[in-house]
Amino acid sequence: MSANRLISGYSVAGACGIWKLWQVAWSSEHRSTERLRLVPIDTDLADDLFRLHQDPGIARWYAGTWTLDQARDRAASMGRAWRADGVHKWMAYRLDNGELIGRGGLSYTEIDGAPRLEIGWAVRERFWGLGYATEIGRAGVTLAFDELAASELVAYTEVYNRRSRAVMTRLGFHYDRHIVHGGEPFALYLLRNKDLDV
Ligand SMILES: CC(C)(COP(=O)(O)OP(=O)(O)OC[C@H]1O[C@@H](n2cnc3c(N)ncnc32)[C@H](O)[C@@H]1OP(=O)(O)O)[C@@H](O)C(=O)NCCC(=O)NCCS
Repeated sequence: MSANRLISGYSVAGACGIWKLWQVAWSSEHRSTERLRLVPIDTDLADDLFRLHQDPGIARWYAGTWTLDQARDRAASMGRAWRADGVHKWMAYRLDNGELIGRGGLSYTEIDGAPRLEIGWAVRERFWGLGYATEIGRAGVTLAFDELAASELVAYTEVYNRRSRAVMTRLGFHYDRHIVHGGEPFALYLLRNKDLDV
């Protein structure tokens, strides 16, 4: 996992030493929220990633279900991203019974050629309407702003993905503009780190 990646392109609180950065990088991996255990996705979670992407509510937004090979490839690439960037998506399980709920969290992306820290979520359809995506999102915002001292987070979704846009609004994001992603119109939302405003 690269502390350099945490520094480059994103403002990191001034007094933090390299040791602190490494501590942050490690602690960003596993965490718990009020109801969820968040685990970094890597090859060991390929089967759960496959199961998640069999969910009809998720498949509708990810161009259909994933094959086991696709899930294995994606899990491996998420694991590589965790090691390279110090952030990527968590798998979310209920704390009380271990049930698989969804996934979400931070990742680095490019928008209009510029590197951005992005947040996203996907929850099994039977668990929609219970606030789990917002809970995962809040953990991502805390990691980005309170621990990585990122200056801004982006989130984007298909313009007609009402539920995902509602999560963004619930987390305090504001609509910025439409962008084209994979040839489709997406709504881009931004959230600034108010602690860094002067
Ligand atoms: C996008 C997605 C994650 C949103 O899920 P969601 O269940 O609507 O969002 P939340 O988990 O934040 O739940 C919010 C709902 O729970 C309710 N709720 C209950 N308890 C809550 C709590 N503690 N905190 C927040 N909301 C709570 C809210 O009032 C809201 O209700 P509503 O649906 O009647 O408006 C889900 O639709 C999904 O997985 N879609 C497929 C994948 C996808 O599109 N991902 C985004 C790609 S960019």
